[in-house]
Amino acid sequence: MRSTAEYIALASSEDEASKVSCPSDGRAHAYSNVTNSSGPYNALLVCACIAALLSSVLSVLLFARDMSLDLLITPTRSPNGRSLRRPSQYMNLDRVLENSTYDFPPITNFPPVTFQVKVNDPLRTMWEDERGWYSKHGTVYPDDRRIVVNAETSTVLQFRNMDYAMERCILNITIPQRTDTFDPNVTVLERSSVDIWVLDAGTELLRYIDGATEYAPKRRELLTTLSFSALSSSSSGQFHCPSVHFTTLELSCSPSMPNCNVDFWQDQRARPIGGLHMIQYSSIRSGR
Ligand SMILES: *[C@@H]1O[C@H](CO)[C@@H](O)[C@H](O)[C@H]1NC(C)=O
Ligand SMILES: *[C@@H]1O[C@H](CO)[C@@H](O)[C@H](O)[C@H]1NC(C)=O
Ligand SMILES: *[C@@H]1O[C@H](CO)[C@@H](O)[C@H](O)[C@H]1NC(C)=O
Repeated sequence: MRSTAEYIALASSEDEASKVSCPSDGRAHAYSNVTNSSGPYNALLVCACIAALLSSVLSVLLFARDMSLDLLITPTRSPNGRSLRRPSQYMNLDRVLENSTYDFPPITNFPPVTFQVKVNDPLRTMWEDERGWYSKHGTVYPDDRRIVVNAETSTVLQFRNMDYAMERCILNITIPQRTDTFDPNVTVLERSSVDIWVLDAGTELLRYIDGATEYAPKRRELLTTLSFSALSSSSSGQFHCPSVHFTTLELSCSPSMPNCNVDFWQDQRARPIGGLHMIQYSSIRSGR
């Protein structure tokens, strides 16, 4: 049998005993037998009042803290949204795979969203061309994503680097094909030369994060220049795409061909596979 310890505050004198005991677990009745008639109920009342007061003071303090935090932090948002990073789900996998020689098959990864930017807009305001439509059940937001690169417009897109130790990536551009269920509405000037820039995105380009999709991040470096052709696919060299991070890119006409023209819609579910996508290869044996 387990005996439950009962908390009784120690009294410094005999008559204090009746005032001090502050029943913490609903055992007030135990004391009513040994003290005078009004004592324990007063104690209970006093305890309740103190608790209520403390709780009120705590509420006011917390409220005041939130207010002052708001005043201090509001203009900058959480530093670059870093606190909103998706946490790693791959704890200790490095130890499990330490001596592994298993070769995992590559992953095909499509950007969940693409944005358009005016080439001559110094603010780099982004918007999203989408094929949404209204139905009687509400707005439909299909998976079609637009890639448009021409003299006026460039396209920003972001991949979420998937899985663990799949950190060797290439970009693959294959102009999508028209099928019964999917119309990519392709316009491609053959051999359009397109610069692919890596952008300095501190956060996920997610419409639910305040301000994250307003302006395109700054360009960091030129990853590669690819030639777009409706007749054949082309791909970049290998680059590092760390797990739990994002690869954020901008496609714009290469200065060598300022009037390049590429315009199509892609849907990651359309078959055959088409559009701009990333292929992630296992990096286990190459030392991550
Ligand atoms: C990997 O190999 C090292 C050296 O042989 C060994 O000490 C370690 O326990 C191995 N790790 C696993 C997960 O098997
Ligand atoms: C296809 O693209 C052209 C411009 O390139 C546009 O005028 C036309 O409306 C588009 N059609 C569809 C079905 O999206
Ligand atoms: C690019 O994707 C296309 C379509 O899936 C595929 O046929 C081609 O082999 C891929 N290229 C590379 C280098 O992986």
